[in-house]
Amino acid sequence: MAKNEAMVKHLFGDDTDAAKTAFGNNSMFLSPQFKILAADVRDSTIIKDKLVNELGVDTSLPTLVLTECLLIYMKGEDSLGVLTWLRELFTGDIGVVNYEVINPDDPFGRTMVENLENRGC
Ligand SMILES: C[S@@+](CC[C@H](N)C(=O)[O-])C[C@H]1O[C@@H](n2cnc3c(N)ncnc32)[C@H](O)[C@@H]1O
Repeated sequence: MAKNEAMVKHLFGDDTDAAKTAFGNNSMFLSPQFKILAADVRDSTIIKDKLVNELGVDTSLPTLVLTECLLIYMKGEDSLGVLTWLRELFTGDIGVVNYEVINPDDPFGRTMVENLENRGC
């Protein structure tokens, strides 16, 4: 718990009250150092609006997008939709780093494949 509190303070600065209430009734947390938005990434209309109008993201800046074991949980067309709205939204240079399971036959891969099958992905 102490380790988690130290990490939260590192990320959110001294505004610990705000950090404690993060995501209380909201889908986002804002601090001077860090901004978090919880959203269904398939919903491009809402997510684009929140990123620009509520989080103030400057979409003209060079942007790096990291996804880790996310796109694999979606249907192919939804993954393509995410990449499409990212390309539409960010008018400057954009890089996308995507990490997914690459060896479905090792113990971790087998667990992931079973998990995905159970979810109907
Ligand atoms: C295997 S976890 C990846 C965890 C993440 N990389 C991390 O380090 O916490 C898959 C995550 O994808 C999220 N996810 C799946 N579909 C999503 C969607 N349509 N929109 C937003 N998040 C989604 C799930 O909620 C889950 O947290």
